[in-house]
Amino acid sequence: MSSQVDEQTRLKQEAAEKALELVEPGMTVGLGSGSTATLWIKLLGEKVRDQGLKIRAIASSDDSEKLGRSYGIPFTSFEETKSLDLTVDGADEVAPGLALIKGGGGKLLREKIVASASRKFVVVADGSKQVERLGKFPLPVEVIRMAEPLVNEALRELGFTPKVRTNKDGSEYITDEGNLILDCSGLLLDNPQAMAATLDSIVGVVEHGLFLGMASKALIAEAGGVVERTK
Ligand code: A5P
Repeated sequence: MSSQVDEQTRLKQEAAEKALELVEPGMTVGLGSGSTATLWIKLLGEKVRDQGLKIRAIASSDDSEKLGRSYGIPFTSFEETKSLDLTVDGADEVAPGLALIKGGGGKLLREKIVASASRKFVVVADGSKQVERLGKFPLPVEVIRMAEPLVNEALRELGFTPKVRTNKDGSEYITDEGNLILDCSGLLLDNPQAMAATLDSIVGVVEHGLFLGMASKALIAEAGGVVERTK
């Protein structure tokens, strides 16, 4: 591991540790996805396993649920509980107003469902995720396979350069829900709200990675410590 990667992991860990302080016994908790959320799930799992912390969780991905179960975290469902007390998740970009791009790990659909059902949605990230304008990180758009050529064209007309996400071996990346992801680069977003509304209106788009007005707080770990950002 290079020392830069090492440092980034250390910062992610610090943000995850800070977020652990927000968990109280009896809470229903949303588990995010990605490397920072994974560090948080491990810390939470240790508290459940070693200290008997009583919580129930809903995960935003199969991977996160598997990890949580490996620590003995009990899971619930939206049939049992309609809202969660707290969700902690990472982000690919964090802009002013806590506008986010998420979905770099491909889990944006369930992440958005879990975040939207949460009374508190807290973002954990290292300082490299902070931006002034969203869009340098390619915006993930989850699409129904059949509609991919149509959605691809619509996204090009908006000014994006969409690319079907692939796995390392070149095969198509398939989401937990069986869809494709178009990673959309080439456009810095001056008005994310308007873009979100436009994307929502394209038939065949299942969900996109713009998470706007959802996060209540961001815990951003920088060299000098963890900074708490609210809206
Ligand atoms: C997963 O789909 C994403 O939304 C992640 O939350 C995001 O990519 C951040 O991941 P890292 O914590 O690995 O940077």
